Amino acid sequence: MPLPPPYQDLLAEILIPEDTLQKRIGELGAQISRDYTGQDLLLICILRGGVMFLTDLIRAIETPHSIDFMAVSSYGAGARQTSGQVRINMDLSIDIAGRHVLLVEDIVDSGNTIASVLKLLQSRGPASLRVCTLLDKPAARQTPVPIDYTGFTIESKFVFGYGLDLDEYYRNLPFIGVVDLEKYQPPK
Ligand code: IMP
Ligand code: MG
Repeated sequence: MPLPPPYQDLLAEILIPEDTLQKRIGELGAQISRDYTGQDLLLICILRGGVMFLTDLIRAIETPHSIDFMAVSSYGAGARQTSGQVRINMDLSIDIAGRHVLLVEDIVDSGNTIASVLKLLQSRGPASLRVCTLLDKPAARQTPVPIDYTGFTIESKFVFGYGLDLDEYYRNLPFIGVVDLEKYQPPK
């Protein structure tokens, strides 16, 4: 596999710098800590995009909680579009029946992914089920989804960094950047 070009060549602009991200994640952590005081909270991270957000978010949550992971992918989806259906590539390792569940996502775009995951998890009988997403692109919504905690509402631009990938690369960047679509063509 050829290596991707340096990210600087694919970056149109930094949309959310590192300090802004971290400050907002601190606020979300404080809010979640207040809301779940006295409740046995379980955060479920949707792999792989949500992993950076999860690890920073839980360090900002002061109440006791556990974490688990789930990996999903959309059928027939390229980098910029999703189909309606979601496949579970890796399921949770624990039973969520009776638990207070908070789903942690990197971005809600069409809403199809989170809608499918919510439907599946709801069928397993959690005590409560809420959604926390770092980024929300409401203009791209196809399926309405309830979002309880939002880091940032953004325009429908193709972004990368801080967990979000460009063909699986550059999830490690500490900021959210906008892809320069004149220099990068997402796979169809
Ligand atoms: P949805 O099903 O359309 O809401 O898509 C959600 C998933 O698509 C996210 O979890 C991301 O993995 C991916 N995605 C959506 N928009 C972007 C983007 O701008 N950059 C990178 N990945 C994205
Ligand atoms: Mg994702």
